[in-house]
Amino acid sequence: MGVNNPDFFKKSRVDRYIDRINNERMTDAEKKLSEAIGQLPDTMSPMPGAENQKIGYMDAGAEEAHFLTMMVRDLGRQHDRPMKALDIGTFAGHTAGAIAKGMDENGGKVITCDVSDQYKPIAEEYWKNEGVADRVDYQIVPARKLLDDLVGKPEEHNTYDMVFIDADKTGYDDYYEQALKLLRPGGKIVLDNMLWSGRVTDETLHDASTDALRDLNQKIAGDKRRVAAVLLSAADGIMIAEKLGYTRQLRQSAGSPAPERS
Ligand SMILES: C[S@@+](CC[C@H](N)C(=O)[O-])C[C@H]1O[C@@H](n2cnc3c(N)ncnc32)[C@H](O)[C@@H]1O
Repeated sequence: MGVNNPDFFKKSRVDRYIDRINNERMTDAEKKLSEAIGQLPDTMSPMPGAENQKIGYMDAGAEEAHFLTMMVRDLGRQHDRPMKALDIGTFAGHTAGAIAKGMDENGGKVITCDVSDQYKPIAEEYWKNEGVADRVDYQIVPARKLLDDLVGKPEEHNTYDMVFIDADKTGYDDYYEQALKLLRPGGKIVLDNMLWSGRVTDETLHDASTDALRDLNQKIAGDKRRVAAVLLSAADGIMIAEKLGYTRQLRQSAGSPAPERS
């Protein structure tokens, strides 16, 4: 089935089952967020390569959001200091809020960025309803500039616990490279849409976003010196890359300034 076929983006019975089970754990704040997104005018996604999808498609949904919260909470158990995370591509704030929720034991900050503030009121209302607004630093700035600025400060290197990447697909490779500098050993990069609704599997299909994601999947698969990685078929394909170098010694010295990567 081609991507121009209207049935291409329809959810399968398995997808609908997964949604039903995961939606049972949605908080009241998430239910309100989902309603707010559902009430948005029936505009199409502004994302290059996803113009034929409805705007609500951009929201991560309960499956991915709850997964992120659990991952961040687990990463926090590796040390006692406040957590640091980045959320690249804010939209209505679901994933930034999910990451912030995972900081419940350690405290901390997630910096989230977007090029548009169109959905700011929805996002801010969501963070307030979840009780995490004080953990979210929302910046209207292109991802590349935010990451360049952080990478330009050596004291930021090797200090972030996780980076979630969900913005323009052609920028992913650069964001991955910058995130690797900012992550501490054992920290994780989570990249969304790495299956791009299955397009990456069709080698005859070429457009800027599909090619960028297909090439990056291949690059990360071979990036064995720097990361451990796994591509999951959950959601629209989630690639998780863990920066190598986290050792028992680092765990014991946790709480002190993050050490250089080994
Ligand atoms: C798929 S949505 C993010 C959804 C969000 N992660 C969630 O599920 O809660 C992608 C967002 O990336 C933003 N975006 C696109 N290009 C960007 C760029 N170069 N820098 C920062 N944000 C960008 C879009 O405006 C859009 O709001």
